[in-house]
Amino acid sequence: MSGAGTTSARGSGGDAQLWHRPSTPASTIGAWLPEGELGESLADGLARVEAALTSSVASEHPFVSEAAGHLMAAGGKRFRPMLALLAAQLGDPRAPGVVESAVVCELTHLATLYHDDVMDEASVRRGAPSANSRWGNSVAILTGDFLFARASDLLADLGPEAVRVQARTFERLVTGQLRETVGAGPGEDPIAHYLAVLADKTGSLVATSARFGASFAGVDDELVTALTAFGEEVGVAFQLSDDLIDIVSESTASGKSPGTDLREGIATLPVLFALAGDDPAEARLRELVAGPVIDDDLHAEALALLRSSASLARANEVLGEYADRARGRLSAVPDGPVRQALSSLCTYVVTRTS
Ligand code: IPE
Ligand code: IPE
Ligand code: MG
Ligand code: MG
Repeated sequence: MSGAGTTSARGSGGDAQLWHRPSTPASTIGAWLPEGELGESLADGLARVEAALTSSVASEHPFVSEAAGHLMAAGGKRFRPMLALLAAQLGDPRAPGVVESAVVCELTHLATLYHDDVMDEASVRRGAPSANSRWGNSVAILTGDFLFARASDLLADLGPEAVRVQARTFERLVTGQLRETVGAGPGEDPIAHYLAVLADKTGSLVATSARFGASFAGVDDELVTALTAFGEEVGVAFQLSDDLIDIVSESTASGKSPGTDLREGIATLPVLFALAGDDPAEARLRELVAGPVIDDDLHAEALALLRSSASLARANEVLGEYADRARGRLSAVPDGPVRQALSSLCTYVVTRTS
């Protein structure tokens, strides 16, 4: 459980030449926008997304507006709307439903952040106090629900097919969070369980972001399917990198408190590799991470051991494999700036540090 930063900005590694223009102020994904017509179109779409988000979090009741607007105003990478808008560039990005569906995805994501911080007892989000730490769990949970309601309101205008896609996406997301909470069942492979959780809790909504953007833009069905599969895999890679950042980040550059997963006893991939192995060099690590690591000194020791472990290096390799798999899906996309931008996104998820 980690993610966004409010002030950090980073490029996309090897594809940096594409991304030198500053991002729009609301997105902290980094110097992200490509040049030329594609950059103009994305900037235009993102500005429309921001305007719609601002009205979606507003209420006639000042406190509701304040609580619902809190995390939106704090920043965030806007990764999901960005992907929706990027996929839409393969059709007509100004078509009705493109921006609205991108907003539905960001609102859904935003709502899950309110709930996730309650589950993880997180105190910081997007560089700001989490809603639960500021107003308590009840307000945080209800504000998340309010945002889901606003997403549903927008969805109603997008038609029954979109409502169903979103319902099934949300079902997967919640199932992923539930399965993570209860852990692997008896006889279940913990690593297969972990990867399935990532696909459900994060891959599902990233996939739907790409799908909505492309389908409302009028992209043909075959390409929509390929872009959906791309979104799913890049989404898993995005969550894997989030889990690694939670371990390796020494600062609050992500806008969150590093080490939260260890503290909450959420075993992410490097921990699972360590626990499944018998490397004598990782014996002490195995002992420490067998359950939640709460004591501050033990937590610092476990983090230090994990950072230099072979298990962390192995998890990094798996991240690279997911990103490569996602990139492989792009053979279905016509050659050009959009494909290049999607490929840069694969580099970004591997190289990001916040
Ligand atoms: C939660 O994963 C993902 C969802 C909200 C579905 P994390 O718990 O790792 O997310 P962060 O690190 O708190 O952002
Ligand atoms: C955090 O998501 C939860 C995950 C699914 C990893 P982001 O990292 O996209 O969070 P924001 O939107 O930038 O705050
Ligand atoms: Mg995390
Ligand atoms: Mg979390």
